[in-house]
Amino acid sequence: MNILLTGGLGYIGSHTAIVLAQAGHRLVLFDNLSNSSHAMPGKLESITGKPFVFVSGDVRDTELLHQTLRAYSIEAVIHFAGLKVVGESLTIPLEYYANNVQGTISLLQAMREAGARMLVFSSSANVYGEPRYLPVDEVHPTGGVTNPYGRSKLHVEEILADLSRSDPDWRIVCLRYFNPVGAHESGLIGDDPGGFPNNLMPYIARVAAGQLKELQVFGNDYPTPDGTGVRDFIHVMDLAEGHACAVDYLSGNTGWQAINLGTGQGYSVLEMIRAFEVASGRPVAYRIAPRRPGDSASCYANPDKAKTLLNWSARRSLAEMCVSTWKFQHGMRTAAAI
Ligand code: NAD
Ligand code: UFG
Repeated sequence: MNILLTGGLGYIGSHTAIVLAQAGHRLVLFDNLSNSSHAMPGKLESITGKPFVFVSGDVRDTELLHQTLRAYSIEAVIHFAGLKVVGESLTIPLEYYANNVQGTISLLQAMREAGARMLVFSSSANVYGEPRYLPVDEVHPTGGVTNPYGRSKLHVEEILADLSRSDPDWRIVCLRYFNPVGAHESGLIGDDPGGFPNNLMPYIARVAAGQLKELQVFGNDYPTPDGTGVRDFIHVMDLAEGHACAVDYLSGNTGWQAINLGTGQGYSVLEMIRAFEVASGRPVAYRIAPRRPGDSASCYANPDKAKTLLNWSARRSLAEMCVSTWKFQHGMRTAAAI
């Protein structure tokens, strides 16, 4: 199939590009490089041995999207492009709504014009707000979201559901990611947040590498087994495979679906630290700090719907998540030293 990946040079998009290319799909990567690098297509080519078409552009540029969809006879789009930092969204909400909501509307208009009506959307477990029960399944109420980032994802999900109701030709899956971590086994690509990492795993990796002094553990008084926050960490390659399964699903089904991509297993912050120490052979210094506003005690998925509809489930272990992150971190450090 001919597939366009908006945000295809980013963390999850690039890993998904590998899986899709290896499955024989022809890909166009569309990205404005706001959080990615020109070097990515070359890295993807060296990993897969296949060429990648890259189009530099912003998803708010409806005309460029339209031309791209037509020029490459695109049949399906996976929409990764957007801004993703929860804390930042509180300080620049307009940028979040412009990129994430306006950007999606622009994409949908271009797809409608070009006659491409198959879409996989990068949503987030954030749409559930504070979990009312665990594990979180897809009938868990959405809403109660406390930040513009999460609200932008929820708005887009609702827009997509309305679109599907208005025109049954649309085929739409919203994938609600839990906590993506890890890297491709090559160590060539991974999660490389610019500046100060906001998420746990890249922060731990930089402490282990000696680039940051210590991790702050945000709270040890949660009602969890060791008092620290519990999350459903999922290997990015498992997540990538989930997208390939979603595209296969859409080939045979119309309508709108929201589907969790998680493992169903929660790990605490302290368990993550210990697992990373084992994987890297390095100590991870930490200190207990106050809770981070807006954080839940625990959040993990019920992944049954993905198994039933997509025939997908996560396969990779916590150790593989940590080892691949360390390999990527180590490679970046070595490259920086040369
Ligand atoms: P990322 O920042 O690594 O990738 C996003 C890519 O989109 C980047 O390459 C960036 O340059 C590009 N981009 C941003 N705005 C754009 C625009 N207006 N036009 C064109 N390109 C644009 O992020 P990621 O971790 O790969 O996340 C991908 C998607 O998954 C995002 O929509 C994010 O909200 C969602 N998501 C991520 C996580 C996570 O923890 N990483 C969790 C849940 C959901
Ligand atoms: N944590 C720390 N110290 C840190 C960073 C995080 O203790 O320096 C803790 C948090 O308090 C939380 C856990 O590690 O208990 C995970 O935090 P992350 O920031 O890595 O991830 P979140 O669960 O807060 O959010 C992530 C993404 C969101 C996404 C959500 C669900 O950042 O975009 O997962 O998919 F919506």
